[in-house]
Amino acid sequence: MKKLLALLIAMVMVFGLVACGGGKEDTSKESEAEEVADDTTEEVADDSAEEDADEPADEPAEGGKTYKIGVTIYQYSDNFMTLYRNELEKYFGELGEADGNTYEVEFQDGKNDQNTQNDQLNNFIAQKKDLIIANLVETTGADQFLKDAQEANIPVVLINREPKEISTMEIWPGKTTYVGVDARQSGIYQGEIIADTPNKGDINGDGVVNYIMIMGDAGNVDAEQRTEFSVKTLEKSIKTEILGEAQRGNWDQTKGQEITANALTQYGDQVEVVFSNNDGMAMGAMQAIEGAGRVVNEDIYLVGVDALPEVVEAIGEGKFTGTVLNDHFNQSHTAAEIAVKLLNGEDVEPYYWHDYVKVTKAEDSELSRKDWRAESIEEYQARLAEYED
Ligand code: BGC
Repeated sequence: MKKLLALLIAMVMVFGLVACGGGKEDTSKESEAEEVADDTTEEVADDSAEEDADEPADEPAEGGKTYKIGVTIYQYSDNFMTLYRNELEKYFGELGEADGNTYEVEFQDGKNDQNTQNDQLNNFIAQKKDLIIANLVETTGADQFLKDAQEANIPVVLINREPKEISTMEIWPGKTTYVGVDARQSGIYQGEIIADTPNKGDINGDGVVNYIMIMGDAGNVDAEQRTEFSVKTLEKSIKTEILGEAQRGNWDQTKGQEITANALTQYGDQVEVVFSNNDGMAMGAMQAIEGAGRVVNEDIYLVGVDALPEVVEAIGEGKFTGTVLNDHFNQSHTAAEIAVKLLNGEDVEPYYWHDYVKVTKAEDSELSRKDWRAESIEEYQARLAEYED
C-alpha cells in the first residue's frame, strides 16, 4: 500500500493535482478531523504505558490491552472500498505498534445486502465487540442498529455512506459518529474540471453541453449530490442538457461500460461529456469510449470521482479528463483514530470531515478550490448557499 500511496502522490504531483488554495489550518470540516487526528496520535502515545481497569478491554496483551473491533463493509468487490478497507486494516496495525495495544479487527463483507449485513451487525453485538465500524449497505437502515449498539454499550463509527438522518436522529451522544467527505464538494470539482476545459465541455460549439450521467445507487448521498452539484457547477459557466436520463450504474465498472456504450450508440457525436459518480463506472465508460473510436479530451470529456491509481494513470495518458481524490487514506486513518478515542472511553463529535482534492493534468486554474475554500465557517456556508437554491 505504501508503494501505491507513493505512486499516487507522485503521479498526482506530476500531473498537476489541483490541491488549490488553503492550508490545513483553514476553517473547515477537514481541520476538525485533523485536530482530532493529532490529539489522538498524542493520546495514543501517552496511553501506551498506562493500564486502566475501567477500559473496555479484554485480557492484556504484551505491553497493552486487546480490543475487539467489528468492521462491516457494504461490498468487498467495490474498488474504492477495497482501498479503504486495506488502508484501515494496515493503519490499525500501525496504531497497535505505536501504543502497545492489540486491535483485533474482524472484517465482514456485507455483500451489498442489508439482511446479510444486519446479521453481521447483530453478531458483532452478540460477540460483545468493544467497537463497531459500519459501512452500511442501506444508509436509511442505521436507526435500529444504532439503538441496539447503544443498548449493548458499543460505540459506533459510521464510514463512507452517510446516513441522511444522523443529524436528526437521537443518536448516542459522543459515542456515535460519522467519518466522511462532503459529497457536494466532489460534485462541484467535477463541474469545475469540465468548465475548465478549453471549450467548457462544448465540443461542437453550439453553446450547450450535452452530457450523460452515470449514477451510484438510489438513496446514496454521494450519488445524489455528485449528480446535482457537478451539473449545477458547470451551469455557472455554460448551458447544459442531459441526453436521456441519468442512469444507475451502482458504482460498477461493467454497468458504467454498458450505459456509456448504449448512449454512444444512441446519441453518437452528440455526447460531449460523460459525468460518472465514481471512477469505477468511469473506467467502464473509458472502455466504451475507446470501443466507439472516440478520443477523450478531443471529441469527448470524461470525469469521475475517487482517484483510483489506475485512473490517475489514465489521466496522465490523456484517456481521462479528470477525477476527484476521495481521500481514503485520511478517512480511514481518522476512522481508526476516532475508534481509539472511543475505546479509551472518550466522547467524540458527531461528524468528522475530510476534503476532496481535484485531480487533472492541467495547472491550477481560476476555477479552483479557492472558490470552495473559505476563511470562516460563515463564508463557507455562504458559498454552499449559492448552490442550495
Ligand atoms: C465512492 C464510490 C464507492 C462508494 C461506496 C463512494 O464514496 O466514490 O467509488 O463505490 O463510495 O459507497
